Amino acid sequence: MKHTKKNLVEDAVTASPTPEEEKLLTSLRAASWDEFHGQKKLKETLRISITAAKKRKEPLEHILLYGPPGLGKTTMAHLIGRELGVNVRVTSGPAIERAGDLASILTNLEPHDILFIDEIHRLNKVVEETIYPAMEDFALDIIIGKGPSARTLRLDLPPFTIVGATTRIGLLSNPLRDRFGVVSRLAFYEPEELKYILQQAAIKLKTKIHPSALTELSRRGRGTPRVALRLLKRVRDVAQVEGIGDITEAILARSLSILEVDSMGLDSSDRRLLSTIIDKFAGGPVGIETIASALSEDIGTVEEVLEPYIMQIGFLKRTPRGRVVTASGFAHLGKAIPKRLQEELF
Ligand SMILES: Nc1ncnc2c1ncn2[C@@H]1O[C@H](COP(=O)(O)OP(=O)(O)OP(=O)(O)O)[C@@H](O)[C@H]1O
Ligand SMILES: [Mg+2]
Repeated sequence: MKHTKKNLVEDAVTASPTPEEEKLLTSLRAASWDEFHGQKKLKETLRISITAAKKRKEPLEHILLYGPPGLGKTTMAHLIGRELGVNVRVTSGPAIERAGDLASILTNLEPHDILFIDEIHRLNKVVEETIYPAMEDFALDIIIGKGPSARTLRLDLPPFTIVGATTRIGLLSNPLRDRFGVVSRLAFYEPEELKYILQQAAIKLKTKIHPSALTELSRRGRGTPRVALRLLKRVRDVAQVEGIGDITEAILARSLSILEVDSMGLDSSDRRLLSTIIDKFAGGPVGIETIASALSEDIGTVEEVLEPYIMQIGFLKRTPRGRVVTASGFAHLGKAIPKRLQEELF
């Protein structure tokens, strides 16, 4: 398969579910604060902010959530709304085209409501500048008329909270970023955490999964609930077609090999990133710009979407001279480490 920019990113994170899958994933979405497993630090930070806002009877401060796709940013935004007992209005950066769109959304909020802006790094400049006074003073400055007779009208807004989400924090301007009271990164999940999430999902789906298969699946979920849940769904289909409906270790192994998910949960894009560095640049060190151009990707996507998990599991590391594939990265792909690198890696 030829790797276009789109499918490279998509299969790396197994994102873009089909509508039917999306429905299933939504039905599995953590419905309460307690059902949202993991992300302990983030939950604690938010719990304090939420409690304080409630006590002061003020809107919650603006929250920015960032991190690789599928870790629960959208889910978290809805849960914050639930905890506060307010409405969550959902939009996204590219959907707000003009300052007028923003004005109509904001003037329709009820006090303390949450406006969830997904892909907030894709807000255009004009809208971004309109949002500053809205976030700071709950006011919008609207320009009426043109030329010398133009004047600015200040429109008061109900106090509200923006929860922004982005996979690309590096693309956010400093002034926008600075207007958030809390800026938090979502972390990859530990296998034990994924195991719990998968177990809950299997109960909801009325699917029996053998303990050893559950353990294995949670190791292969790429630290990402969305990936793990999608794998569960695929494996469940195979189990229903081929077996008695239970997910056994054998059925899991067969399904994962069909899906080309390897023993570490890496997919073809992950392996392509590693093998490109090994084959074209002898394992590195190689600069991020060079890697991005060899993959026909932009630098930010490589840094913020593709690399984090591979670095987290220790197959790739950052050095002052560029990225280097580690000894375990070479071993995973079954490639020999060049002599030149042996000293550096051991
Ligand atoms: N901590 C969790 N516990 C249980 N399920 C979770 C958790 N985090 C995420 N999920 C599930 O994983 C899926 C993806 O989560 P979500 O859509 O919130 O991710 P996201 O970070 O918004 O991703 P994207 O950046 O692609 O928009 C959802 O089905 C959600 O229910
Ligand atoms: Mg989302």
